[in-house]
Amino acid sequence: MSDTLENITTIGVLGAGQMGAGIAQVAAQGGFTVLLADVSQARADAGKAGIAKQLGRLVEKGKLAAEARDAILGRITAVVGAAGLAPGDFLVEAATENIELKKQLFVELDRAARPGVILATNTSSISITLIAAVTGRPERVVGMHFMNPVPVMKLVEIIRGLQTADDTYQLTLALAHKLGKTTITSKDCPGFLVNRILIPLINEAGFALQEGLGSAEDIDTGAKLGLNHPMGPLELADLIGLDTCLAIADVLHRELGDDKYRAPNILRMHVAAGWHGRKTGRGFYNYASKP
Ligand code: CAA
Repeated sequence: MSDTLENITTIGVLGAGQMGAGIAQVAAQGGFTVLLADVSQARADAGKAGIAKQLGRLVEKGKLAAEARDAILGRITAVVGAAGLAPGDFLVEAATENIELKKQLFVELDRAARPGVILATNTSSISITLIAAVTGRPERVVGMHFMNPVPVMKLVEIIRGLQTADDTYQLTLALAHKLGKTTITSKDCPGFLVNRILIPLINEAGFALQEGLGSAEDIDTGAKLGLNHPMGPLELADLIGLDTCLAIADVLHRELGDDKYRAPNILRMHVAAGWHGRKTGRGFYNYASKP
């Protein structure tokens, strides 16, 4: 059992995309040994290479010593699949926002992890209760929702499923704090707190764009200079990934049953076209010419 923070030395992260790599980076910077898994060694290696690039920028800016970067990277091992995370003392799933995929991955994580090890999910909208129910340890399953970009954003939203035990919740809170994050706690309800607020904003910006109320730049500048948001909703959607935004919007719409959560057609069409935002080089904006 990994029932105290002191017993957690190795954190396993399943999914080496932008969120998983960010979580792995923060965990390694926090002094933990990290196992970073994806479906193939190549994808896990690419996730680690992305972390090396991020840390390299910090070194260039004089914010991190080269030796410290090497030590952080030395604590991260890229592995394959849930089975590669078996030695972990605390596992975080950060795969694509798809319910069937997450259920499958939790069956695999449950099989791989030692009894008592907490299985956390970074889901941004899917029910923790539902995910926990496919495992043989529902009381050890919890939501641990990091924000993007993980190394910069202070918040972690903790979500208790119906079955989540008190000590699971407390240990997850303590771990998030040890990683230098501030926490909020949400009930297990579609979108939790942050995306319940954010996704309607992004949807509405999409409706404004498709209705021709203003250009993407006008909409984003309105939010930045008129509301003091660090990024406009459309550029933020591009950062999060339009596929992820649409997946969350569809969960909110379907599960809450209110048309106010419906996604604008323009978002659906961008996703259908493969314009998923920064990660594909094109979303509401075109990044092909940008570094
Ligand atoms: N990874 C690591 N560090 C990053 C980064 C990334 N992807 N992007 C920026 N940074 C760092 C920069 O290196 C820089 O660090 P220093 O100050 O140490 O030099 C710092 O962040 C500021 O970056 P920039 O100067 O380049 O640009 P900025 O001041 O415009 O900040 C930003 C960039 C932090 C992304 C800022 O625009 C911002 O806060 N945007 C809003 C992000 C946000 O709302 N995220 C939540 C999304 S919702 C979510 O994630 C939940 C969900 O489920 C969808």
